[in-house]
Amino acid sequence: MDIMATGLYNVVARACSLPPIPLVAVQVMRAVMDPDTSAQDLSKIISADSVLVSRILKVANSAFYGCTRSIKTLKMAINILGFKTIKNMVVALSSKSMYSSTSEAEKFLWEHSLSTAFASQLLARHVGLGASEDVFICGLLHDIGKVILSDQNPRSYGRILPDYIKSAEPIIGYEKEQFGFTHAEVGGALCRSWKLPEELEGAIKFHHSSALNRLVELEPYMGKLSALTALADVLCNKLHHGAKLPLATYHKTVDPLCDLFKFSTEEIQEYLNRIRDIMRKEKSLFQM
Ligand SMILES: [Fe+2]
Ligand SMILES: [Fe+2]
Repeated sequence: MDIMATGLYNVVARACSLPPIPLVAVQVMRAVMDPDTSAQDLSKIISADSVLVSRILKVANSAFYGCTRSIKTLKMAINILGFKTIKNMVVALSSKSMYSSTSEAEKFLWEHSLSTAFASQLLARHVGLGASEDVFICGLLHDIGKVILSDQNPRSYGRILPDYIKSAEPIIGYEKEQFGFTHAEVGGALCRSWKLPEELEGAIKFHHSSALNRLVELEPYMGKLSALTALADVLCNKLHHGAKLPLATYHKTVDPLCDLFKFSTEEIQEYLNRIRDIMRKEKSLFQM
């Protein structure tokens, strides 16, 4: 299935000049696929980027992973968390360099993205995606299209983005009018140009679709991943890790997703508490 029609992909790619995937991420993806790669080899590749090493250690030591002993070296992180988790972290954290440290809106988006990634991972087991490698990275990259659009259109999109974030008005309508495509489609196109799995591309592209559309249009795993990301997204907005969401808007999005995944109101409240808790403990992960 061609998730993003080639015509649309070309339009987005031409209009946005999608940033290249960092070399270290390409090398790590290649190494993880090679059965002969050792922890030592992987550690050597990642060590070329000292900023990335410190980011990986921060995330690996976050309360989220709940390791009983502190992870002091990259090799230790690789041995404890495994190749695939580290690969996902490298790809996801590579995206951090795309966020501007001087833009309040982009700082806020980074916080929102990380919160969505943690929330997705917390919710994943309940929806049958506990073993999925794509959950965290999908949460972290779902709104990357906003960063790309903001950087490339600082006087228009970049200027209005903070207002949309504050008011929690959906920005998709403005994006369609202004560019002919949305930040979700830009994020999907970035996944394709980075040669990430098609499931990620589709899940990100459809993260603002209705629950029903997702299930009808996408294959089951992709649809579930997309719906999970949408649920994590709206819960983070409810916690103001992102937009300040009005209650009516919150229920319009969250209710169909809860029906879909059979979450009770009490369970959602419990997850909201856990997400809030993780984020409170992990303030340092947001420093740009
Ligand atoms: Fe979004
Ligand atoms: Fe979002």
